Amino acid sequence: MRGRFITFEGGDGAGKTTQIELLSQALSRAGQDPLVTREPGGTKLAEEIRNWVLHDASSIDAETEVLLMFAARSHHTKKVIEPALTSGRWVLCDRYTDASYAYQGGGRGLPNSLIASLEKIATGGLKPDLTILLDLGIDAGVRRTGGRGTSHDRFESEESAFKERVRAAYHHIAEANGDRVVNLDASQAVGELYNHIKILLSERFGVLID
Ligand code: TYD
Repeated sequence: MRGRFITFEGGDGAGKTTQIELLSQALSRAGQDPLVTREPGGTKLAEEIRNWVLHDASSIDAETEVLLMFAARSHHTKKVIEPALTSGRWVLCDRYTDASYAYQGGGRGLPNSLIASLEKIATGGLKPDLTILLDLGIDAGVRRTGGRGTSHDRFESEESAFKERVRAAYHHIAEANGDRVVNLDASQAVGELYNHIKILLSERFGVLID
């Protein structure tokens, strides 16, 4: 049986990494062999692209940026995500195509039609079975990433108007895809948020995890 494809989205500092880790451990305890991966990234080539697109100091224009995101996604989808799903593994992915609609579409102002064309080429139409949107106010997100002690990437360094546009785009995506995307309040404590995710998984897929 094909595995489930679950993606996590949200602004920076929303707590995706922590929730993915908790869910991955619980699925492993329940006898699954989940694959945890991320975008941009997930293959050697895509991780190289990530490095350029998140940290290169020279200016990358919006079109170049979106092409790099989808080049990484195409490689990652074909080499890692599809084979894992086909072999029956669950895939937990930190961001996927919704992030391009939110950041390159909402944030940078590129047209959705352009992103949709690239999506078709890069993903072959692959959509997550479930997308968990961890929604957090911009100020709270900035406070959390500020406390990480690592240098900020190109997106974390953007002005708050950019981050507000990204957040609004995510809200729009959730409203337009209510069957796939679930919007959760990420200002809750880690344990409370995780409880919501557990309930969601049991409702959607009938899996009971602790
Ligand atoms: P993320 O892995 O969440 O960063 P962190 O290491 O801080 O947890 O995401 C990296 C950044 O890449 C994030 O700011 C959003 C951006 N991004 C896009 O702009 N478009 C995309 O398609 C993807 C996948 C990510």
